[in-house]
Amino acid sequence: MTLAADPVLPPPSDEAAAHSREVAEHIATAILDAGGWIPFDRYLELALYAPGLGYYAAGSRKFGPEGDFVTAPEISPMFARCLAMQAKQVLDATGGDILELGPGSGVLAADLFAELKALGAPARNYFLLEVSPDLRQRQHALLAERHPQDLGRFTWIDSLPVQFRGVVLANEVLDVVPFSLVRRGGGELTERGVILSEAGFAWEDQPLPDGELRRRAAAAFPPGDYEYLSEVGLAAEGLVRTLSRALECGVALFIDYGFPEREFYHPQRSMGTMRCHYRHRFHGDPFFMPGLQDITAHVDFSAMARAAEQGGAEVEGFTTQAHFLISCGLAVLVSEAEPEMTLSRLKATSAVHRLIDPSEMGELFKVLAIGKGLGEPLLGLRSARPLTL
Ligand SMILES: C[S@@+](CC[C@H](N)C(=O)[O-])C[C@H]1O[C@@H](n2cnc3c(N)ncnc32)[C@H](O)[C@@H]1O
Repeated sequence: MTLAADPVLPPPSDEAAAHSREVAEHIATAILDAGGWIPFDRYLELALYAPGLGYYAAGSRKFGPEGDFVTAPEISPMFARCLAMQAKQVLDATGGDILELGPGSGVLAADLFAELKALGAPARNYFLLEVSPDLRQRQHALLAERHPQDLGRFTWIDSLPVQFRGVVLANEVLDVVPFSLVRRGGGELTERGVILSEAGFAWEDQPLPDGELRRRAAAAFPPGDYEYLSEVGLAAEGLVRTLSRALECGVALFIDYGFPEREFYHPQRSMGTMRCHYRHRFHGDPFFMPGLQDITAHVDFSAMARAAEQGGAEVEGFTTQAHFLISCGLAVLVSEAEPEMTLSRLKATSAVHRLIDPSEMGELFKVLAIGKGLGEPLLGLRSARPLTL
């Protein structure tokens, strides 16, 4: 996602504000039902995914200039073309299918499918795992428009397959899987949750019992007694672990903003990485207009890599988005697509620049590739600078 930091948030329409009040009431009921406190990951589940209400489960625009954020496949079709080059290598080697997690507007599926066809290697099956009914409908409409003859090759699924062969793609999915907030203060670890106050939702920390969350925070937080607050993404790890178990032969690519553990839990990042996205601004208040804004955290890629290994997959590599795309042949694809230096080429090049510029998506966004049984280096990693997990 690329956005500007801006504390002045534009007011919602009357209709949107009414929707947000409904979401807030739904969350308030859940807090009362739970005895007055819910952990923050539960708040996220409700604010983002409550059926018909949550940010991803209801009809707000989300993607593109009129939405809240722009993702790489929306910025330039070159992103999908590079992934198609990578997918082709894996499909040729495995004879498998494509599975995309969280396909958003469906534009990556549409562009990638078109590119594989143009390369003479059409995808046999393109599975889409989308938790949002609203986004499923949008994906279906776009794919029906872009690929009417091939619509039968696209299949929406409700949960991860038990066995899968081929390529799995997850662009900006792990960052929106609900995460917990753990705080260290006065030598104690507590779990941050949400209560109701006179002024609306408010924070409250509760003792963190023994268990995985406590163990993980204790191991990952930097040493010291100073105040520290951060996220732990156990659900995202679970998703990666389950997927790794299901992967018979092939590769899964997780593309997202984030860091290896030593940078994620850096002493200077003592307030965590949570960010809320609303109309191309980002800010730090998850209680602002629930249901109208995205709430995300950066990805701890070391934890995801460990989860993949626990699921029996190997880490094929970890690099920046810029290096991955360039290694897939980005520069050649751009010059082939727009050989003349025209206005169209300039526009295309500036969009591509956003994907690889270190000050935009190039460095903060990383690619974690996990796999099983491929037996050859991935195209996107061959000339990429490897990063340490
Ligand atoms: C930030 S959007 C990214 C969309 C798209 N991949 C892109 O790059 O434009 C996150 C997407 O992940 C979906 N999602 C969230 N949790 C998911 C899960 N557990 N499994 C599958 N999709 C999920 C959301 O509904 C949404 O489509």
